[in-house]
Amino acid sequence: METFVSQGDGHVAVLLHNGLTDGMAVYDLGCGCGRTAQALRRSGWKGTYIGADVVPELLQELARQCPDYATVLNTTPTIAAPDGSLDIVFHWSVFTHLFPAEAYLYTAEAFRALKPGGRMVFSFLEMEDSAHDRVWQANQRLLREGKAAAQLDAFLHRDWIRRFARDSGFLEPSFTDGSDDTYHPPFWQALAVMEKPV
Ligand SMILES: C[S@@+](CC[C@H](N)C(=O)[O-])C[C@H]1O[C@@H](n2cnc3c(N)ncnc32)[C@H](O)[C@@H]1O
Repeated sequence: METFVSQGDGHVAVLLHNGLTDGMAVYDLGCGCGRTAQALRRSGWKGTYIGADVVPELLQELARQCPDYATVLNTTPTIAAPDGSLDIVFHWSVFTHLFPAEAYLYTAEAFRALKPGGRMVFSFLEMEDSAHDRVWQANQRLLREGKAAAQLDAFLHRDWIRRFARDSGFLEPSFTDGSDDTYHPPFWQALAVMEKPV
């Protein structure tokens, strides 16, 4: 529980560093049971929150914890928001469980739904970070033992993310190493930020 709370607070710190202010509309893609939603509430932030996920039970728990926040069950690679309506689309450890083609489609959708100047902020696993190697090794071990991986653990390369951004129309993305604690607690997964041109 302590980790759940501190990680949620870390998510909010990343959002604040990336321009979150009161009055904004944010979209939490793959929101789970509301780790970030609960932290946003604790922080006193006032704005419009939409949490989307593919698992109804997780959304129900989020709605129970944060009754004033909207939840959306969405099983297609789309953002359930009108064109140009969002200030920030964020997702933590979601592209880590998707095939790259789905991440690519979500990126294009985020571009559509963001306002000019809006941002998509997200975390990802990368081969270049030795701390992420344990995920890679764990999957190798299972496969060597003839077992199926428990879940898809997808790694992305910064060059692929640059390509996703370019194809969608975003400006050149910026990146933060998972161990970087300059502006917020270290996230462990790497962070990418894409901005829609004004
Ligand atoms: C590792 S959990 C992270 C949850 C949350 N972002 C957090 O940090 O607490 C990944 C989440 O992504 C959701 N998810 C899986 N596939 C998805 C998809 N195709 N589209 C949207 N969300 C998805 C899962 O149901 C799960 O809630």
